[in-house]
Amino acid sequence: MKKQKNFIFKCTGCGHEEPKWLGRCPGCGEWNTLEETPVSKHSNTISSKGPVQSLPLSSVDPLEGSRISSGIQELDRVLGGGILKHSSILVGGEPGIGKSTLLLQLAAAADTKARILYVSGEESAGQIKMRADRLDIKEKAEKIEILTTGCLEEILTITQAVKPVLILVDSAQTLYSLETGVSPGTLNQMKHCTWELISWVKEHDAALFLTAHVTKDGLIAGPKSLEHMVDTVLYFEQSDKSISPGNLDCRFLRSTKNRFGSVDETGIFTMGEKGLSTVEDPSLLFLVHREGTLPAGVVTAAVSEGSRTLLVEIQALTVPAKGSISRVFSDRIDNARVSRVAATIEKHLGLRLSDQDLYVNVAGGIRISDVGVELALAAALYSARTGVPGPLKTVIAGELSLAGEVRALSRLPGREKTAKDLGFTCFVGPLLETGNESGYVSVKDIKSAIKAVFGA
Ligand code: TYD
Ligand code: MG
Repeated sequence: MKKQKNFIFKCTGCGHEEPKWLGRCPGCGEWNTLEETPVSKHSNTISSKGPVQSLPLSSVDPLEGSRISSGIQELDRVLGGGILKHSSILVGGEPGIGKSTLLLQLAAAADTKARILYVSGEESAGQIKMRADRLDIKEKAEKIEILTTGCLEEILTITQAVKPVLILVDSAQTLYSLETGVSPGTLNQMKHCTWELISWVKEHDAALFLTAHVTKDGLIAGPKSLEHMVDTVLYFEQSDKSISPGNLDCRFLRSTKNRFGSVDETGIFTMGEKGLSTVEDPSLLFLVHREGTLPAGVVTAAVSEGSRTLLVEIQALTVPAKGSISRVFSDRIDNARVSRVAATIEKHLGLRLSDQDLYVNVAGGIRISDVGVELALAAALYSARTGVPGPLKTVIAGELSLAGEVRALSRLPGREKTAKDLGFTCFVGPLLETGNESGYVSVKDIKSAIKAVFGA
């Protein structure tokens, strides 16, 4: 039967519209969410924006330049230089990691005179005030409007009245809509509300932050299904109660998606009495202060995290494998990388590791994804297996090929400079293009690297 023209099909999850019924929504990928909706309702929703028009690309205002600083340096860094207006940002993390704290601190610190709407479906106004007092943000409190609801329609009414430049929603999981056709308490309900808020900031001079709880294995369906809708996805993480060698409680903010910036940068925070603070010079944060000699299995690596260098202590332990197969226990450096480096050592140094269980840790709990950690990892494993300690003031950086060669590395001069600035006297790494500086030992393969570090 031919459908009458005064009906369209609207997704109850994301609001996507189709002229004809489809089993799967092209907008959000959900099944059976397209519902017949009268066009009159549809046209009401768009009539407020006037007739549909295309416009020449050259006349479009570039979005760049309309960033506002969050007032929190590490957050700006991860976002790619501040909060872009019209954009939406999802902040995921386990309960208790500091999402609500970050949002409230952002509300106070954001570099804007316009109003900021802090919407909480989780805490009462009194609880938010108590947290604000703890964070000492009294003087900035005037520009912050608090709304304690999860109801989309209430939020939209208030946003129309307050015209905030930032909408901070804590959390996406508490959002619900009164609109008929969207079943309450479902994933679709959360997606629908998120979509409406994203649309609001796209049409107004504003940006949206949403928090989302993620459980330890990160597999909860809710926030994952919001990822494709927002512009930026940030995850707050902490290794099991990671404490830096300087006894600071570290939290890391990483971006897994960023339409307007890179995903390489890591925001490093410490949680203290007065909430989250940023660390002046994080290059030292992950170094253990040691005197005399290093214990076997410990080396210092210069790793590149986004645009900065961090010096981190890599710790390795090898024990005879309990089963017949060797296992790798490493949650801060990818297991596959540890296995590959171990295989390279076994092949090119003739040092047996395949009958050992390998434990690898990074002091301070920061996750390292930089390939430049491989040579240091090899040195730590070598030292752990042989019991030969490395020298105290030596820093190592390099990528290893399967053939045992030490490959050229990005940002090498920056790594070398940081190590020197922090009092290290020897740097072992790949050939330095600017010519060898004093204290720099360039190595071409794993064998010469081990010789340079351990004298073996
Ligand atoms: P919170 O922001 O409530 O986490 P989330 O919203 O991600 O669940 O942070 C809660 C934790 O932070 C809690 O364990 C208490 C701690 N905290 C501090 O240590 N100092 C502070 O100033 C604040 C506000 C919280
Ligand atoms: Mg919270």
